[in-house]
Amino acid sequence: SQPQPLQGKKIMITAGPTREAIDPVRYLSNHSSGKMGYAIAHAAQALGANVTLVSGPVSLSTPDKVKRVDVNSAEDMLNAVMSDIDHQDIFIGCAAVADYKVEQVATDKIKKSAEHMQLRLARNPDILATVASLDNKPFTVGFAAETSNVIEYAQGKLERKNLDMIAANDVAIQGQGFNADNNALHVLWSGGQHNLPTATKTELARQLLQLIIERMDNDENS
Ligand code: C5P
Repeated sequence: SQPQPLQGKKIMITAGPTREAIDPVRYLSNHSSGKMGYAIAHAAQALGANVTLVSGPVSLSTPDKVKRVDVNSAEDMLNAVMSDIDHQDIFIGCAAVADYKVEQVATDKIKKSAEHMQLRLARNPDILATVASLDNKPFTVGFAAETSNVIEYAQGKLERKNLDMIAANDVAIQGQGFNADNNALHVLWSGGQHNLPTATKTELARQLLQLIIERMDNDENS
């Protein structure tokens, strides 16, 4: 069997989209398939980690020996994350969390009448930034899906959200990012970066975890 560099380490990963209810039958969401997060969960388990996967609604099967917690909204996801974040060594926020929720969720199905209608939205909590602000924070990794100025925006996010690492991908490139089986990542941390060229999400997950292991070893020895 392969080496187990994550033996004894606890890792929590968020994956998939969130759903923000409008009324009992409708919601706002996005095109995240969860494939990248699930690939990371699978790879981390294979490297010996104890894996918790906090997942929005996706149609993927749970990787072997991974603890999966299903959630719907961003608020649910935050609660699930915070209830088990103590003692995690690594946190990877791979979920495409909705930035906004519907301010007043209707208790009954909304009827159509007027030609126009408006939904008032309110900001959702930032799960990744919340984890990164903890006193005893795990090694915290974010994702940045961008359509332009990928590295620049990711660098800003790394600093603003106080992350240990960020993996940026250009979702405007055909066949990469949302719902695709392939992806390419620019990985940045304070003082370094590494380009992971186009590969399957399975392969990229392994490579990303390898970079995380190197950075954690480096931090421990400094
Ligand atoms: O700022 P932006 O949404 O682009 O940041 C993306 C990163 O932040 C991803 O790692 C995503 O999982 C995380 N995020 C989060 N909670 C939010 C919004 C984004 O954890 N409400």
